[in-house]
Amino acid sequence: MQKIKLEHVTKKFHRESIFEDVCLDLFPGNIYGFIGPNGSGKTVLLKLIAGLMRPSEGAIYWDSQQIGKDLDFPPSMGLLIETPGFLANYSGMQNLLYLAKIKRKIGKKEIMDTMEQVSIAYAADRKVGKYSLGMKQRLGIAQAIMEDPDLLILNEPMNGLDQKGIVEIRNLLLELKKRNKLILLASHTREDIKILCDMVFYIQDKKVGKV
Ligand SMILES: Nc1ncnc2c1ncn2[C@@H]1O[C@H](COP(=O)(O)OP(=O)(O)O)[C@@H](O)[C@H]1O
Ligand SMILES: [Mg+2]
Repeated sequence: MQKIKLEHVTKKFHRESIFEDVCLDLFPGNIYGFIGPNGSGKTVLLKLIAGLMRPSEGAIYWDSQQIGKDLDFPPSMGLLIETPGFLANYSGMQNLLYLAKIKRKIGKKEIMDTMEQVSIAYAADRKVGKYSLGMKQRLGIAQAIMEDPDLLILNEPMNGLDQKGIVEIRNLLLELKKRNKLILLASHTREDIKILCDMVFYIQDKKVGKV
């Protein structure tokens, strides 16, 4: 299974850099946390790794292949970056079925199993417009993990979850880690992720440093 490498990555918007010269090696079977205050660049960093943005300088590799050059984005990736734009008039199940049609890797059975894993199966046939914020977040996590990706990128995954939900998602992520997944989490609250992570990085003063 592939690792991710950031080589001297700098990201600028206009002429202002968000971070500079970031070098990281991220390995499967680990959960990595990225923390820092609002606006410090956590989401931008995850977007760069996901291939949704390009570095201003430096390069990001999925194993030996450069993202944005050899690959548009990591080939086996589950992503929860923004609140997913689910269709309000469709049920949770219909939304996930619709997304699963892109890759045609899984069907209704796997989706239902995944919805069970994140305790949203009871609302599978309910319209997403009627979901609470926490329920939408669970559906977003289901969406990210349903195709069993090798790389899982979750931005503020605990947002909107109650204490029970946080514990459930923690256990789920630890299970995925045991199965040798590479998991990246960003959060502005370090408690959420500190206990989960094998390594935590803090974004401050344009640097990404180990905590
Ligand atoms: N597409 C963009 N264009 C210009 N500036 C951006 C863009 N995305 C993020 N930024 C800026 O980059 C900085 C880091 O943002 P972000 O990664 O979202 O922070 P956070 O750590 O809260 O997730 C912020 O100053 C934000 O305004
Ligand atoms: Mg953010």
